[in-house]
Amino acid sequence: MSAVHSDMKSNIKRVLFTEQEIKEKIAETGREISEKYDGKPLLLVSILNGAFIFMADLCRAVTIPCEIAFMCAKSYYAGTESCGEVTITKDIAQDISGFHVVIVEDIIDTGRTLAAIVELLKKRSPLSLEVVTLLDKPSRRVVDFNADKALFTIPDYFVVGYGLDCGEKYRNLPYIAEYSAE
Ligand code: IMP
Ligand code: MG
Repeated sequence: MSAVHSDMKSNIKRVLFTEQEIKEKIAETGREISEKYDGKPLLLVSILNGAFIFMADLCRAVTIPCEIAFMCAKSYYAGTESCGEVTITKDIAQDISGFHVVIVEDIIDTGRTLAAIVELLKKRSPLSLEVVTLLDKPSRRVVDFNADKALFTIPDYFVVGYGLDCGEKYRNLPYIAEYSAE
């Protein structure tokens, strides 16, 4: 495991998923996507900032031709509590009506972010639309929303690392860890 600075380690309760575990799940997901969309126009749409590392690794585990695009949504302000409102701060430029779209997200918590994004993208008539999330916290849902695939399902923990932040920090941890405020 890579060396991590002691300033980051002090708020880490424990590692939930190691680099190796994440890598294996992503390889499997990449294979599934490659088989499912073989011969079809595929667009991977990732939600910034949290999903940037997941997208970078997942798109390289996809072996078929595909395009990549990024959206930016804000639903979390500083700290660990959701503010309840979803704003799209950066949209994709593509006309998605000629694509099978796979949304690549870091985590589903209340479900508000993805419910809003899916509703928006569906209006643009993609050939199909599915959601792949790295992490899922089903116990926290406030809107009825489910991913087509979740690589890891977790209890109500606040997690950081592998793209996920707390107050914009910890995104660069190579693993996924439970965060503790103490
Ligand atoms: P939702 O709209 O409540 O489902 O929240 C989704 C967004 O909240 C995610 O894309 C993350 O950016 C953020 N989020 C939710 N739970 C966590 C967590 O445990 N750690 C870090 N970010 C989180
Ligand atoms: Mg996110």
